[in-house]
Amino acid sequence: MKFKKRFSLSLMLCVSVLVGCQPQGEEVPAKEDNSQISGGGSLENWPLLEPAFPRSEKLEARISEIMSRMSLEEKVGQIIQAEIRHVTPEDVKKYHLGSVLNGGGAFPNNDKFATPKDWLALSDAFFKASMDTSDGGVAIPLIWGSDAVHGHNNVIGATLFPHNIGLGAAKDAELIERIGRATAREVAVTGIDWTFAPTVAVVRDDRWGRTYESYSEDPAVVADYAEAMVKGLQGGKNEADFLRGENLVATAKHFVGDGGTTRGIDRGDNAVPEKELAEVHAAGYLTALPAGVQTVMASFNSWNGEKLHGHQYLLTDVLKERLGFDGFVVGDWNGHSFVPGCTLESCAAAINAGLDMFMVPADWKALYNNTLAQAKSGEIPTERLNDAVRRILRVKLRAGLFERSMPLAGKAGILGNAEHRAIAREAVRKSLVLMKNNDQLLPLAAKQNVLVVGDGADNLSKQSGGWTISWQGTGNTREDFPGATSIFEGIAAAVKSAGGEAILSEDGSFTDASFANGKAPQVAIAIYGEEPYAEWHGDSTNLEYQRGNKEDLALLKKLREQEIPVVSVFLSGRPLWVNSELNTSDAFVAAWLPGSEGAGVADVLFRGAKGEIRYDFTGKLPFSWPMYTNQTVLNPYHEHYDPLFALGYGLSVNEESLVSNDLPETSENMAAGGLEDAWLLVSRPRAPWVLNIAEDGAKAVPVNGNRAASGEDNNIVVTSIDMSSQEDARLIEWKGLRPGAVQLSAEYMQNLDIYLEEGSALSLNIRVDQKLREPLQAAVTCGEGCIARVPLQSTLKTMPLNDWTRLSVDLQCFAKAGADFSKVFSAFRLESEGAAAIAVANVRLVPDAAASADIRCAG
Ligand code: BGC
Ligand code: BGC
Repeated sequence: MKFKKRFSLSLMLCVSVLVGCQPQGEEVPAKEDNSQISGGGSLENWPLLEPAFPRSEKLEARISEIMSRMSLEEKVGQIIQAEIRHVTPEDVKKYHLGSVLNGGGAFPNNDKFATPKDWLALSDAFFKASMDTSDGGVAIPLIWGSDAVHGHNNVIGATLFPHNIGLGAAKDAELIERIGRATAREVAVTGIDWTFAPTVAVVRDDRWGRTYESYSEDPAVVADYAEAMVKGLQGGKNEADFLRGENLVATAKHFVGDGGTTRGIDRGDNAVPEKELAEVHAAGYLTALPAGVQTVMASFNSWNGEKLHGHQYLLTDVLKERLGFDGFVVGDWNGHSFVPGCTLESCAAAINAGLDMFMVPADWKALYNNTLAQAKSGEIPTERLNDAVRRILRVKLRAGLFERSMPLAGKAGILGNAEHRAIAREAVRKSLVLMKNNDQLLPLAAKQNVLVVGDGADNLSKQSGGWTISWQGTGNTREDFPGATSIFEGIAAAVKSAGGEAILSEDGSFTDASFANGKAPQVAIAIYGEEPYAEWHGDSTNLEYQRGNKEDLALLKKLREQEIPVVSVFLSGRPLWVNSELNTSDAFVAAWLPGSEGAGVADVLFRGAKGEIRYDFTGKLPFSWPMYTNQTVLNPYHEHYDPLFALGYGLSVNEESLVSNDLPETSENMAAGGLEDAWLLVSRPRAPWVLNIAEDGAKAVPVNGNRAASGEDNNIVVTSIDMSSQEDARLIEWKGLRPGAVQLSAEYMQNLDIYLEEGSALSLNIRVDQKLREPLQAAVTCGEGCIARVPLQSTLKTMPLNDWTRLSVDLQCFAKAGADFSKVFSAFRLESEGAAAIAVANVRLVPDAAASADIRCAG
């Protein structure tokens, strides 16, 4: 089988780049010796790819002809992409903008329920504006991009396919191509030309909030799928309707290394050696480019400290020259603003490095003006601007945008049609991974009393995840999913058609009268898992599944006590530590984020009416599954690879499948390499930790955006500031009107005992901006009335004002002051009684650091 062969190949490949296979629990490996490199690396690390298309003189001549008529203003307009909430067709006409996008949660007329016709009307209006030559300009069609990342997920009523992680379990590239085709058709109905998909990230650390956007941790699977998805979305590059008709323009994103950032920090730094960058993280580009992908999105992340948006070596020398890419590079959402020396409104450096189009949702006008000035002054060389415009026009011409050939535009009966839903349902069936099936409980007989429990059972929002109608996938209700089927609805239909009965009881309660036959349930299916999230909102500190203070586990236990066999259907965007849930289930299915066709789950869980097996489980784990919560970087080539279930694991129903009911339920792993640092705040707080302002007797004020304050009098103000990168630190200013604190707390009690046992210190970067006059202390809170304080003022007073330093406190100091580390609510809290101004960054618990801490309490 192709998959198998590639699979083992990829293992070898990883071994060959072992340098970059980060041993778990260790600091980032030291950077490679880059001395022979300037601003980049050595091209021999990258294959020399043939361009997907031989140069066409005819096409280039046509581009030259168009460009010869364009003013400098029009050229600058081409390289700007604004967002539909912030730009009108009038603007497009006036500034000759090259592109618009709809961000997650943006709709025509701000109407969530905008119909396909409304989308098309807006798209027509933008198109017409771009072709309007009444001001003497050149007619150049605008290109509209959208995140159709699991179907046309911004549009109500669209088919929602499983997120990429689920597709990775299906190991079926042909299916991926069909999904691409169906997605393209649904997008084409709304008059949109371009999708920001596929994501070809190869994830290394599953704490990353975008893990579910990745097909697999195995680069070979990503490579296979990238090619298939590009073909499905764009059409085959040698076919007559390539990019046209029912096809779209696709994007390979995010170039490059997005999935390999240290600690899985979204938009963080990827510090792997270049060989690993090329062989692991670029695997998807090496197939998407030859398949003819027309756009590549630059990534937010940096490589060895250099932001991709300003990376001339990677964007130009590698991508455009070595890998032969002749389409255009689009930026990611204001990504240029993070390049050193740049702002949101001005960034010649990104264009000069090789970015061809800015994605600048709101601030496009100022960026346009500055870019124009830079083009005039020569800060952006003419050749570079011309090259960017040429690339954009090349894609627009190839895609037939000038002719606006859109046979499906406005057509009814395509968006969310039965044919597409059938493909999605097939994908759901193939994505399910059977992890445990003791006594071969599955597949279930359909003719019985089935109790369906858990808050994910009848919850389309939860089964669809992030990037669903809204950006985060939150705030959606049943009405937002017309035509969709929840997992419970699928179960109910399957059971009913065989003469059984399934009832929904989220909390698991039932009575003698619950079932029509007056009998007890013969089996329970518990459907639960992660709440939706997107991007950094999903970054987490460790991999422990703990939603609702483990209320799902309590539910499973309750069913077990009643001797009802339990099947768990787990919804998640990544592998999570669920040993307790596994121990408390007879069968356990990883269902990922299946999308709108929940019936695909019942297809596999239940036998047919005659007891026959309808569909066996064929899904295989696309990611290694952790045995311990700190197995965050867990890949087969890992030195201490000790997963609970290895990459590629997945049972079929006939397999001997006894999984122990005694998996370790303590959440840390001491055996296999020690305890990792726990990062509580790095640029942003990481789940389960949230930052808030706490004053006695007042409700805690969450700090979400870049500024928050307490009280009407702004007694305590928290602002995001820059330490070494944008908004990576927080400045806390106390007016001193009342005592108060700023804290990193969790909704549910956290057991941090192991950190105490392992001699850890609380460590942070700190800057004192104002002479301290009153007591200031660090504290840990631990449940009702439990608070342990360590005075900081004498240590802080010795530190220079307005300078960043590092401060560490032995956790024993908190323990001695009464902290119970098994019940922590706030792991870090700064309290001040008077006026103070203190900035903090990078808050973490570091094992084995107590002895060298600034404040020690051992002995
Ligand atoms: C994401 C991209 C996405 C873009 C447009 C960014 O924040 O990183 O993946 O395509 O927004 O919504
Ligand atoms: C947009 C998303 C985008 C994100 C990035 C949101 O407001 O809707 O599409 O990816 O911002 O910051």
